[in-house]
Amino acid sequence: MGASGKRIAIYPGTFDPLTNGHVSLIRRGFDVFDSVLVGVAADTGKNPLFSLEERVQMVKEVFAREPRASVEPFSGLLMDFARQKKCKAILRGLRAVSDFEYEFQMGLMNRRLHPGAQTIYMMTDYKWLYISSTIIKNVAELGGDIRGLVPESVERRLMEKYRQRRENPL
Ligand code: COA
Repeated sequence: MGASGKRIAIYPGTFDPLTNGHVSLIRRGFDVFDSVLVGVAADTGKNPLFSLEERVQMVKEVFAREPRASVEPFSGLLMDFARQKKCKAILRGLRAVSDFEYEFQMGLMNRRLHPGAQTIYMMTDYKWLYISSTIIKNVAELGGDIRGLVPESVERRLMEKYRQRRENPL
């Protein structure tokens, strides 16, 4: 429960960028929770293509007409963010067995950090089993077709980002 008495889950991630796999999981979260707060992490050890503001904005654009989804950036520990939001549920997606060990490790550490919170895992729809933000960026950078794998607004931003990079290489 969140401070409002509603069942709120935080769905954390890097979202660099948001994919249709993430979108599907967030919408499925509405079956179980009153709302889903998408937590866009500043500190993930990755070197994102999109800035934190851009990653938040992409989620905002996609869920603009779905008030049950909200989005906020967070820095530092996910469990500190959960405490700050008075939220005791974390939503995570599992794609393949290979996700399990990492999720298990993270889930146990998060429980140690905040024993009152629970992580809820949902199996990703089979359509998104093989995608990740990284593979989509790789294909987009090399001019491959990523239609249907990311929301259209995200696809446009990816194309624009790589166009800028081609015109202004570092
Ligand atoms: N569909 C498609 N792709 C999916 C997916 C789904 N349902 N779920 C995950 N993915 C992809 C992601 O896009 C990501 O791709 P990438 O590695 O190419 O970027 C990959 O699977 C891994 O995703 P995920 O496990 O969600 O990692 P993440 O980097 O997005 O999120 C955080 C990790 C943010 C949750 C974690 O680093 C965190 O909590 N950081 C805050 C600091 C902290 O508390 N650290 C201690 C943790 S114990």
